[in-house]
Amino acid sequence: MLFSLGYIALLLVLVLLIRTTYSVAVAMRKEKALENSTDGPENAFWLEKMAESQGFLYFGIVLTIVSLLGYTYFLVLGTPWERHLMEWLNIVVRLMHITFGIAWIGASFYFVFLENALNRTKDVRDELAGNLWAVHGGGFYYLEKYKVAPKVIPRDLHWFKYEAYFTWISGIALMFVVYYFNASAFLIDKNVLDIAPGWAIALGIGSFAFAWVLYDALCKTPLVRKGIWFALPGFLIAAGFAYGYAHVFSARAAYMHFGGMLGTIMAANVFFNIIPAQKAMVKAAKDGLPLDPMLGKNAGLRSLHNNYFTLPVLFVMVSNHFPSTFGNANPWLVLLVISLGVAGIKHYLNLREKGEISVWVAPVSVLILLSAVMLTAPALDPGACKAVSFAEVQPIITKRCTSCHSSKPTDDTWTAPPNGVVYDTPADIVKMKDKIMERVVITLTMPQNNKTGMTPEERNIVRCWIEQGASVK
Ligand code: HEC
Repeated sequence: MLFSLGYIALLLVLVLLIRTTYSVAVAMRKEKALENSTDGPENAFWLEKMAESQGFLYFGIVLTIVSLLGYTYFLVLGTPWERHLMEWLNIVVRLMHITFGIAWIGASFYFVFLENALNRTKDVRDELAGNLWAVHGGGFYYLEKYKVAPKVIPRDLHWFKYEAYFTWISGIALMFVVYYFNASAFLIDKNVLDIAPGWAIALGIGSFAFAWVLYDALCKTPLVRKGIWFALPGFLIAAGFAYGYAHVFSARAAYMHFGGMLGTIMAANVFFNIIPAQKAMVKAAKDGLPLDPMLGKNAGLRSLHNNYFTLPVLFVMVSNHFPSTFGNANPWLVLLVISLGVAGIKHYLNLREKGEISVWVAPVSVLILLSAVMLTAPALDPGACKAVSFAEVQPIITKRCTSCHSSKPTDDTWTAPPNGVVYDTPADIVKMKDKIMERVVITLTMPQNNKTGMTPEERNIVRCWIEQGASVK
């Protein structure tokens, strides 16, 4: 009773907060319109006050939502609804993460494209670095880039930062929902390292901070302006992280941490470098002080690094759907090879946008990516088979799989069959034979983290049975 009263109270608070935010936004719009016509000092004062209260309101909304979630979590803890709540949290946070991520990476691609494709020579005014004509969505656009800054900084200046921050925040939240809340089932693979969940989580989060410190230190050396001589040690550091992750976490979690590590560097670049540099530039221009061109150059470099990180990060984000990538004897190597290959492709695209012809970058990148295909290929001749009957296979599946994959699982984590896959009847098993081959024989990613201790001999029996036509007779 007390619980539900508290719940309703929180919901009411949330509704009130959102309602007030709208009122403030509407009032602000009115004030702004007034200000444009009269420019009275009183308006400016109120605008500032309202902007301030808007900040508090947003904070209040986030706080209330988090309390509601915590409340709900404790309400459903230990009931069948716990998994359901997690599933919906996963859906909501994932959608947010993808949406912010697309906005961020889209802007990153767009601005690097702008920079590369600017017309810098034909009819460019002295104060400009270049301009660009474009047509999109049924309209013509004309953009100009200033060498340093315009004489007057316009009032309505668009910034690009929240997409980066929110991508990172939602990404970390997703890391918690998928990996950390259930660390023993997802983050940790006892066959890799038998580590306590608390330690594993601390290592995961700590590694993000550590990677940023290393990268930032490397950026402060003169190497940062030396192209390949910066990329090389950078890649070696990344390799160290990939290797380390693969020896601490389950392969899937290792991939995700590699992506999270790069994503953290990207977001930190925006937070600690790019935005402060832009703020300093705007301030200097407003105060009429000379601009330090290094500020812009440094921020531009960080932004370019981010651009190269995007494709490896995107690969990691989809890698979860492809067990052949992480379900491999050397998952870290596959990860590095693919990251290098896709970063190479990005380099090629960047060169192309600048109109530079490069003969080597694209073919070499493709070659690198092809070598990942080779690295992950199953063995051509996995060994001879004796005749296997279904009577030998079914007990193996029952023993090793149905603790999770049945309509009534007995596993401590999986109270519902994962992905809806059940092996209750012979038909259930035959139906899934190709996926069983993929997960049990080729990639060794099932049973999950080999929790049920399937032996190589058993995997071989399953393989032979499928190769011989997966008959149930
Ligand atoms: C400890 C629990 C657990 C055990 C035991 C287990 N699985 Fe899974 N299985 C999962 C989970 C979780 C997923 C979903 C995540 C994934 O695809 O990795 C899954 C997914 C699968 C999929 C992919 C389904 C799809 O929709 O793509 C297949 C195939 C599969 N398991 C086969 C097996 C087989 C065969 C065994 C026994 C040899 C087995 N599993 C044992 C937990 C388990």
